[in-house]
Amino acid sequence: METIILDANNSDNITLCASILRDAGLVAFPTETVYGLGADALEENAIAKIFSVKGRQEDNPLIVHVASIDDVKPLVKNIPEIFEPLVKQYWPGPLTLIMEKSSIIPNNVTAGLDTIAIRMPEHPAALALISAFGRPVAAPSANPSGMPSPTRALHVLHDLDGKIPYILDGGDCRVGVESTVLDITNKIPKILRPGSVTYDELRYVLVDVDIIGTEVVDKPSSPGMKYRHYAPKAPLIAVIGSPDETAEYIASRLGDDVAALMFDDYSLSHSNVVSYGDSEDFLTQASCLFDALRKLDNMGMSAIYTQLPQEIGLGATIANRLKKAAGNNIINLKD
Ligand code: TXA
Ligand code: MG
Repeated sequence: METIILDANNSDNITLCASILRDAGLVAFPTETVYGLGADALEENAIAKIFSVKGRQEDNPLIVHVASIDDVKPLVKNIPEIFEPLVKQYWPGPLTLIMEKSSIIPNNVTAGLDTIAIRMPEHPAALALISAFGRPVAAPSANPSGMPSPTRALHVLHDLDGKIPYILDGGDCRVGVESTVLDITNKIPKILRPGSVTYDELRYVLVDVDIIGTEVVDKPSSPGMKYRHYAPKAPLIAVIGSPDETAEYIASRLGDDVAALMFDDYSLSHSNVVSYGDSEDFLTQASCLFDALRKLDNMGMSAIYTQLPQEIGLGATIANRLKKAAGNNIINLKD
């Protein structure tokens, strides 16, 4: 199968991709966070193709994307009270809500769970595609499992060339890290995956918010969080400490086959250094992160060191992704 990149601004291309979804096919499309690999959320056969193309573990449920708040009702058993204020503030946008699922949702979408993850993306091409299709679209990030999420159409082509017919190209993703996954099935909402909408932002709307530990554990509430994620092929080593300390530590270890991911304002002039924004500029770091990990991957290094942002606001989300990519390779200079 030839994979063709289509301009997402052309309405004929949206119509074409909607017809692929109608035929139980797969289409990659842009969202404001990362590119998604979409299929008809109500069609079991279509969903099975997502798992097979991504090589995704069957116990890892998918996010269902809708084009309007009204589209949620048929997908859930009941609408929790806090749904309304949350979506008023953050939809369309990078907030995924976990609710109890209705019986029209095939089991493989939710990996057998009684709950379903739903979000209304903000990217106009995503909304146009879902509207043209007229049904909810299940979509994980459009990368093979374990790899960094794609933030450009060309990332998707690199990963899925020959496996899907079309990629809708809507440009670089504005946000660059995935949505926040928030479980609202209990009285106190719980962040299952830190994301683009931060804890502090959620607190504008919610009196109480829990957050699960972000360690890699056997039985996390969000099944996806137990897998090593977002990872380049070479071992990634996350270095914790002040930017001055970590830059100095990394400088003494760089070499012909050792690379580093660093902040622009602490970056070293070395051909194996990739930078991803100033140390305090979390928005730039988020939008550059996955592209930077891919660049480092292509350099074929034997090890990659990385500086971590301060774990506040969006910085905490970026640090979460980098720590996950590093697995247990974390060096704390403060110890
Ligand atoms: O920004 C995003 O969320 C992107 C774009 C394409 O929307 N999607 C995305 O999907 O990151 P994916 O499949 O890569 O990650 C979905 C996460 C996984 O960690 C999964 O375990 C969790 O959401 N999830 C899905 N349904 C769930 C459920 N019912 N309960 C708990 N966690 C769930
Ligand atoms: Mg993913």
